[in-house]
Order: sequence, then structure tokens, then C-alpha cells
Amino acid sequence: MKQLFVLMLSVIAITSCLQKEGETVSKKDAALSVIYNRKSVRSYTSQAVSKKDVQTLLKAGFSAPSAKDIRPWELIVLDDRAVLDKFAEEGLRGSRIILHEAPLAIVICGDTVKSTRWSLDCSAVTENILLAAEASDLGAVWLAVFPWRDRIERVMKTLDLPPNILPLAVVAVGHPKGEFTPKDKYDEGKIHWNKW
Ligand SMILES: Cc1cc2nc3c(=O)[nH]c(=O)nc-3n(C[C@H](O)[C@H](O)[C@H](O)COP(=O)(O)O)c2cc1C
Repeated sequence: MKQLFVLMLSVIAITSCLQKEGETVSKKDAALSVIYNRKSVRSYTSQAVSKKDVQTLLKAGFSAPSAKDIRPWELIVLDDRAVLDKFAEEGLRGSRIILHEAPLAIVICGDTVKSTRWSLDCSAVTENILLAAEASDLGAVWLAVFPWRDRIERVMKTLDLPPNILPLAVVAVGHPKGEFTPKDKYDEGKIHWNKW
């Protein structure tokens, strides 16, 4: 009886170890697959991005690290066709073809009074949103605003931003129109071990 009890405990212990190991591997594979497959997507179907997916993208953005955990970011969601079209013409004209097609754009802004490192923190937010888009089978692209003064001023004017809130980037999002493949950027020549 005692031997049977010990045997059962061993089976339970081994099974739970195996399960944990399996879970760890699949979590790693899932995360790395998203990172390796992220690519810029600049053409979208007219299908709207669901509210649930928008929420996922925003939550991913807010999960970014920030210096001293100040979180100096502010996110502006553009999902109204008329607003997006106006933004394409008046806010970020250099990317107007993309913005006229995208059903969603998220403007990542930073509070320059709250942190001098707002642009670094907001870059982490932007990348998190791009990764969440990839994980959600959406297409997305980083559209630069900062550090170009003319783009910053036009975006601020179009979105009526207060003077302390500067736009860093716009992420255009939608359901990809066509096939897009990630680039293989692994480069042994850029790896330096222990010294230059
Ligand atoms: C800081 C930054 C600014 C960018 N600005 C633009 C932009 O204004 N317009 C655009 O189409 N893509 C822009 N991109 C996307 C890059 O062109 C793209 O990441 C690069 O070509 C590599 O391709 P991949 O994203 O498919 O790996 C930007 C990316 C970064 C990181």
C-alpha cells in the first residue's frame, strides 16, 4: 500500500514537471515567433480592427518599460475614417497613402515635463504595439514623427495637443492586404564578444 502511494506521488511529480517544461517551451516559441515574424505592413483591407484587438494593442503599449517607471506616454487612437483622412492630409502628409487606407492609427505621444527620456520610453511602447499587432494577425507599421520639427508641429496642430505633449510616432494598423514576409536580419558581423 505504502509502495503504491509512493508510486502515485512519483507519477504526479513527473507529470507536473513535464507539463511545466512543455508550457515553458511553447511560451518561448510563441513569443519568439511573434518577434521574428514582425514586419512592416503598409497596405490594408477595409475591414475594421475590432475593439477587442484595439484593446490588446493598447494594453501591450502600456506594458512597456520606462525609466524610473514614470510612464510618460499618452496614446491617441484614431479609428474614425474622417479623422484618419484629415490626419493623412494635414497631420502626416508623408505617410498619407498608408493613412488613407489604414482603418486604425495609434499616435504615441510623450509628456516632456514628466520625463526627459520620454522618447526612449515611447519607442518601447511603439515596438510593443507592433508586436501585439503581429500576434493578433494584424499588419502595422511605425510612421516617424519625432524628431522632425515640421512633422511634430503638424501632428500637434491637427490633434490639438498641449505644448508639453510631443508625438513620437504613429502606428498604422489594419488587416494586411497581400502577403508580407519578415526580413532575416541576423548578422554575425554585428556581434562583439567581450570587446569590440
Ligand atoms: C524610428 C523608425 C521610423 C520609421 N519611420 C517610417 C516611416 O515614416 N514610414 C514608413 O513607411 N516606415 C517607417 N519605419 C519602418 C521601417 O521602414 C522598417 O522598420 C524597416 O524598413 C525594416 O523593415 P521591417 O519593419 O519590415 O523589418 C520606421 C521604423 C522606425 C524604427
